[in-house]
Amino acid sequence: MGIPFIPLNDNGLYFDNAATSFPKPRAVVDAIHHYLTEIGANAGRSGHYRSQQAGELVFSARRELARLFGLRDPMRAIFTANTTEALNLAIGGLCRCGGHVVTGPLEHNSVIRPLRYLAKVGTIRLTVLHGDRQGRFDADDLRRALRTDTLLVALNHASNVTGAVQSLAPLGDICQRQGVPLLVDGAQSAGVIDIDLRRDGVSLLAVAGHKGLYGPTGTGALLLHDDFEHQRLQLLKQGGTGSLSNRTEQPDFLPDRFESGTLNLAGIAGLTAGIRCLRQLPDGLEAVLTHKQALVQHFIDRSRQQLDGFICYNDDTRPNAGVVAFNLRGVDNALLQERLSERYYICGRSGLHCAPLAHQVLGTYPQGTMRFSFGLFNTVSEIDRAIDALAAIAHEVI
Ligand SMILES: Cc1ncc(COP(=O)(O)O)c(C=O)c1O
Repeated sequence: MGIPFIPLNDNGLYFDNAATSFPKPRAVVDAIHHYLTEIGANAGRSGHYRSQQAGELVFSARRELARLFGLRDPMRAIFTANTTEALNLAIGGLCRCGGHVVTGPLEHNSVIRPLRYLAKVGTIRLTVLHGDRQGRFDADDLRRALRTDTLLVALNHASNVTGAVQSLAPLGDICQRQGVPLLVDGAQSAGVIDIDLRRDGVSLLAVAGHKGLYGPTGTGALLLHDDFEHQRLQLLKQGGTGSLSNRTEQPDFLPDRFESGTLNLAGIAGLTAGIRCLRQLPDGLEAVLTHKQALVQHFIDRSRQQLDGFICYNDDTRPNAGVVAFNLRGVDNALLQERLSERYYICGRSGLHCAPLAHQVLGTYPQGTMRFSFGLFNTVSEIDRAIDALAAIAHEVI
């Protein structure tokens, strides 16, 4: 893709980018190194020059996030440790007073667990949209599910099981018309598919810094639409912010209201560099999506030709965020993962991928599937190598 990266040192293949992206661009590693060796200080805590440099670094990251996701005000980018924390902040913060919530059929546990918990303790009433056999639903399905007391719609953007992408704008339009905030789980789509909070009518967007944005683990963010009244979001944590130190109450303004405690500054330095790498791509995110879709398509086409008993659970529609779910008939997917890893140094993921709902929809619950998820630096020849390995394993096992 033209972005310099640090190659794997063991001749292995890494197809687990949906869990976290690897390898990282060289610029990301350099930015983390630069923070740790040249800056080192905390941000917003002390007035000295190193602290100011750290503050500038954090602000640059907010600016990159705001620019990428169509926010006017960079202070509406709130840093979290990962997507899960961003989703919990949004769900826990909005649902505390109770009401009705609508969610989708392909949700990750990071959405469905907090929602089911709130439903179980009686705080919310939950509607899970049905969708078709691939988990697709349309704007009318959502419209029918909304009620006068619906306080939140929380939806997955790209499935971490099949890579299938839900089109946001029609859903955002309905939510805006009904005055219901739309929370989008962008764990798999941020950095792959263009998301614009204003254009797409998204009130809150939870993203991973460590997947498609190519930052390190321990980074994520919750982005708040410029018109979303942030006081509606209750606090999940309180504490030191470096601001208003004389007061014993949490500051009310953004982002301090939601960012207590020292930030992951090394991670944020890397995340900024990751986003800048994406921005340097001549065709931007279009290039990322095209690359990932081409890899998925190549894998599926070649596997159908070469592998007896290849069962693929992806549908044929596009876009696809670079993820493919499959099984080899007669081969347990946990065994497949183990053999791929131990004999061929190929990293994929078997099982349910923290998304049991999605596997119920696909008919692959409880055994799950094998999953390959491709990244910016994977190539067609790597996929051919993996298919040879799959053929050899199938030959041994069956
Ligand atoms: C769709 C989806 N949502 C949420 C998450 C949780 O992301 P994180 O690991 O950044 O907390 C994942 C992780 O894979 C995911 O795929």
